[in-house]
Amino acid sequence: MGKIMLTGDRPTGKLHVGHYVGSLKRRVELQNTGDFDEMFVMIADAQALTDNADNPEKVRQNIIEVALDYLACGLDPEKCTLFIQSQIPQLCELSFYYMNLVTVSRLQRNPTVKSEIQQRNFEASIPVGFFTYPISQAADITAFQATTVPVGEDQLPMLEQTKEIVRKFNSVYGDTLREPEILLPENQACLRLPGIDGKAKMSKSLGNCIYLSEEPEEIQKKVFSMFTDPTHIRVEDPGKLEGNTVFTYLDAFCRPEYFEEFLPDYANLTELKEHYQRGGLGDMKVKRFLNNVLQAELEPIRNRRKEYQKDIPYVYEILKKGSEKAEAVAAKTLHDVKEAMKINYFDDKELISSQAERFKAE
Ligand code: TRP
Repeated sequence: MGKIMLTGDRPTGKLHVGHYVGSLKRRVELQNTGDFDEMFVMIADAQALTDNADNPEKVRQNIIEVALDYLACGLDPEKCTLFIQSQIPQLCELSFYYMNLVTVSRLQRNPTVKSEIQQRNFEASIPVGFFTYPISQAADITAFQATTVPVGEDQLPMLEQTKEIVRKFNSVYGDTLREPEILLPENQACLRLPGIDGKAKMSKSLGNCIYLSEEPEEIQKKVFSMFTDPTHIRVEDPGKLEGNTVFTYLDAFCRPEYFEEFLPDYANLTELKEHYQRGGLGDMKVKRFLNNVLQAELEPIRNRRKEYQKDIPYVYEILKKGSEKAEAVAAKTLHDVKEAMKINYFDDKELISSQAERFKAE
C-alpha cells in the first residue's frame, strides 16, 4: 500500500507562523521529495464543530482561509489531496465502531483534551462530541491507512490513542488497520513556537500570533514589539537567550544565507548569540534582522495567497475534487473494517448459504 501521509487543521481561524514551522513547511517538503505514495491534508471542520457547535458560521467562513493558507504555503493539489472532513461520511461510521474499543477513563486521561476542557470552561458540562474527538481523529487517520502524520507536539496523545485503537481492532477482528507514526519537527524551536509576547503558545485567543497572510507593516510592528530578555536594559548589558522570543524565532526561521543578505557583520546565528550574551548587542538590531528574515520567508506565501484569492470558485473546486477522492479511499477502508467486524451480511454468501442449510436441517 506504500507510504501515506495524512494530517489536518481545524478551521477556526487563519493559520499562523506557528502552524507553518510546526507542520505546514514539513508537509510541503515531504510533498516535494516525492517520498509518499499518497498525501492527504484535511480541513477538520467536523472536529472544529465539537467545540464550536453554536458557531457554525465561524467554521464555515474559515474553511476558505485554511485552504488558501495551504495553497499559499505551496501544497499542490496535483500531488496532495486537499479535502473537507465533514464531506466524508465514512469517518463518522468508523468512529462509531471504534467507540466500542475505547473506555471513558482512557479518554479522560488524554492530556491535550484535559487542558482543552479547562481552557474552554467545559469542566461542568463537556459535550460528548468534544470528549470523544480523539476517537474521531483515529478514524481520520486510519480511514486513509496513513503511515505518517506530521503534526505539532500537542497531537502526541491523539496519535497514541490512534495506535491503541489500531492494535485493539487488529487483535479483535484481524489485521485490517495500519499503525501510524507521528512526525514531529526536528528543530526544538519549531516544536512549540511561542507567541510574540513570549507566552508558551501562539494562539488566536491570546492575540499573540503572526499570521501567514499578514501584511509587511503589520509583521514589522509585531516583531518590533516582541518579548525579549527583560533584564537586558542597556545595549552593554549581557543578554539571555532562554525565553528570548526573538532568538527562538531566529532558531525557527533563520537560514545561513540571510546573514550575508541582511547582517553581514556576523557569519552565523551562533556568532550573533554569543555577542548578545556577552553584551554590546541591542535588541533593536536583532529585531530588525528577524524582521528581514520573516519578511523574506512570508512574502512568497502572501503573494501566492493573493493569486488564489482571485479565483475562489477554483479553490472550492480543488476541495470538492479532493473530497471525492478522499471519500473513495475511506470507503475502501470502511468496507474492509465492516468485513473484519462481520457486519457485511449481504456480501457474505457463505453466511447466507450456511444458514439456509441449517434451517433446512431443522
Ligand atoms: N487535532 C488537529 C488540530 O487540532 C486536527 C486534526 C483532525 C488532525 N484530525 C486529524 C490532525 C488527523 C492530524 C490527523 O489541529
